[in-house]
Amino acid sequence: MAPLIGNKKIKTAVFISGTGSNLKNLVLFSKKKLSPISIDLIVSNNPKSKGLVYAKKFKIEKKVFNFKKRVFDEKRLLKTLKDRKINVICLAGYMRILSKNFIKIFKGKILNIHPSLLPKYKGLNTHKRVLENKEKYTGCTVHFVSSKLDSGKIIIQKRIKIKKKDTPKRIAKRVLMEEHKLYPKAILKIFNL
Ligand code: GRF
Repeated sequence: MAPLIGNKKIKTAVFISGTGSNLKNLVLFSKKKLSPISIDLIVSNNPKSKGLVYAKKFKIEKKVFNFKKRVFDEKRLLKTLKDRKINVICLAGYMRILSKNFIKIFKGKILNIHPSLLPKYKGLNTHKRVLENKEKYTGCTVHFVSSKLDSGKIIIQKRIKIKKKDTPKRIAKRVLMEEHKLYPKAILKIFNL
């Protein structure tokens, strides 16, 4: 990604659908001096996303696009991003698939965090499948978004060990804690910091 010029931070939008713990963590990271990004917009496809509370808490603009009118909403979303001069998009638990057109426009600038060691376990219910397959390890991955689900270039991964008494819920908790450390690391990495 292009190097930073002066002290200006790269305007970033975070897309969520649910709890928003990664969003909260990214906002806290963005406020640090070493962070190359600022979070200027929160986008959700779900008006009930719990994570939307962080918009008020951190005084960040939020927008909800439910995509009931798909093409229309995408146009409005693209205009919003352009008007706000958003340069980077971080998907954080965003459950909608972005269109090919959208991904093309933001090529190389959309990041996603996924709760598995990609390319293994793309898609949903990763921890359940990991346990069913008796894997020894699992983890999380930050990757660039391409038009194929969970398949873009990997930026960084963190591996954790599966324990004997693990359940999908227990793994999810430990992986999420690692996600919170990994996303900021991925951002520093893509800016060569
Ligand atoms: C995370 O596990 C992330 O990897 C996945 O969705 C979850 C989102 O959690 N894509 P949160 O909304 O950030 O708490």
